[in-house]
Amino acid sequence: MTDTIPDLSLTRTCPFDPPDGAAELRERGPVARVRLFDGTTPWLVTGHAEARALLADPHVSSDRGRPNFPMPIPIPPQSRPTGLTATLVSNDPPVHTRLRRMLISSFTVRKITALKPKIERIVTERLDAMIAAGPPADLMAAFALPVPSMVICELLGVPYEDHTFFEEQSRRRLDADGTAIHNLFTYLHELVQKKIDDPGDGLLDDLIAEQLAEGKLDHVELATMGMVMLIAGHDTTANMISLGTMLLLSNPEQLAKIRDDEAAMPAAVEELLRYLTIAGALGRVATEDIELGGVTIKAGEGVLVASAVADREHSDELDVANPMRQHLAFGFGIHQCLGQNLARAELEIAFTHLFRRLPTLRLTVPVEDVPRRANAVLSGVTEVPVTW
Ligand code: HEM
Repeated sequence: MTDTIPDLSLTRTCPFDPPDGAAELRERGPVARVRLFDGTTPWLVTGHAEARALLADPHVSSDRGRPNFPMPIPIPPQSRPTGLTATLVSNDPPVHTRLRRMLISSFTVRKITALKPKIERIVTERLDAMIAAGPPADLMAAFALPVPSMVICELLGVPYEDHTFFEEQSRRRLDADGTAIHNLFTYLHELVQKKIDDPGDGLLDDLIAEQLAEGKLDHVELATMGMVMLIAGHDTTANMISLGTMLLLSNPEQLAKIRDDEAAMPAAVEELLRYLTIAGALGRVATEDIELGGVTIKAGEGVLVASAVADREHSDELDVANPMRQHLAFGFGIHQCLGQNLARAELEIAFTHLFRRLPTLRLTVPVEDVPRRANAVLSGVTEVPVTW
């Protein structure tokens, strides 16, 4: 019986598509067993409605420390987001509710709208610098990475001059030796101390004044929360800008629909988010028996939501004029991406200005030769060679 369970592939023949074998996995039903690299066989949810139901179910835990929490790639225990680094994304209620409430008001549509002129300025400056340096360029290093990095630094009050350090540590955060995550935590812990001594102007400073000083949050929690936002705030968005640009350049008829039409951009961004669903596998553990898609997920069993596969149920075609509003690119339920309004604003502004300023932008290598990142759970690239 067990040998009929298929292995979960993490190989992507095409960087825009979910890992290979998605069609076969989907044929096995919306919820079916899959085998991970370590021999464990959690449930894999590939149906869209089932994925939403599971992520919204109150009887699932995001705690990475629980037995059977599905890990699609080998992550050494010291790099796992448990204990110190288990903030927000792997907290369950009531701790999750308490921490998320402290942050939610900083990420509302209104707050992000107020931030848009700053994002525009950062995007324009990065493009000016890239254009001045002249073609060719690495779009990742010159634009896709610095834009979200600078934006999240502004928002949190983290000094951007430290970006080489924190970008490198973020990239290495799942490395076997576990030092990267430790280095990042130490950096944020020290930064919080500096800010306590010498307050600045950013979300971390607000949290010190409103939460830490009031005893609602401790120093370690605040440093960890800052670390999670710093990583989540630049890494995913950088990959969405890179892959989104590559996808549009590969589909010139789609790009033509949005070029010079700012009004078409929000819909196009939703469609790019759905099509790419770069954070394509979300883990949970059932805390009670759950009936889903014709099976019973038993209390204590692990579940992987294959959101990248589920988001293709709508269509395998890219159609920037017809997005699907309920995609899972930002997850769903209580952990749905805190930074989604920010990410949308960054993507809209980045694509609008990039294609306006560089109408002849093109890749210098075939899409399949663009270097990919090693951590295959989050789809992404390390370098995007372009010219114009
Ligand atoms: C296009 C870019 C982004 C994508 C695709 C993305 C994707 C996601 C996904 C799928 C989750 C849910 C994880 C789960 O359910 O296990 C999530 C959570 C989260 N994201 Fe994003 N994200 C992006 C940008 C950002 C930005 C700019 C921030 C800035 C602060 C951010 C902060 C967070 C945080 C703090 C969480 C945890 C929320 C919680 O557990 O309550 N993300 N993100």
